[in-house]
Amino acid sequence: MVIVTDYIGIISGKKIDKSELFKIFYGALNSAPMIEEAPINLECKLVNTIDLGTSHDLFIGEIKKAYIKEECLSDGIPDIEKIKPILYSTGIKNYLGIGNIIGKAWKIGKEYNKN
Ligand SMILES: Cc1cc2nc3c(=O)[nH]c(=O)nc-3n(C[C@H](O)[C@H](O)[C@H](O)COP(=O)(O)O)c2cc1C
Repeated sequence: MVIVTDYIGIISGKKIDKSELFKIFYGALNSAPMIEEAPINLECKLVNTIDLGTSHDLFIGEIKKAYIKEECLSDGIPDIEKIKPILYSTGIKNYLGIGNIIGKAWKIGKEYNKN
């Protein structure tokens, strides 16, 4: 989805109807449209809008419900290697995938040795 994702970041909704670029579905809140092709959709309720004093507002949402594709689960839990998220790096202005596993969480730290 990296091409369409970048495209909707480049072009304004004032010019095109972005909802036509995806298969849309509505969730429990029945408000914001969500993207069927996306591995994960997080349905949020707007809880706060902060004026940053620039041209931007910061919207804070409370996640009310999460939708995930069945094939992105392992033993019923979201699996990042199956989700394959797109990571955006502002510095190098590139999209990246995730890398390899580099250590077992809650375990590798036990190997720490002060010396
Ligand atoms: C790679 C990329 C990163 C972006 N990051 C942000 C961001 O962090 N905050 C933001 O307000 N807009 C960001 N934008 C710009 C918005 O996506 C863009 O202003 C918006 O899609 C315009 O559409 P709209 O007029 O329908 O809101 C980014 C765009 C791209 C292509």
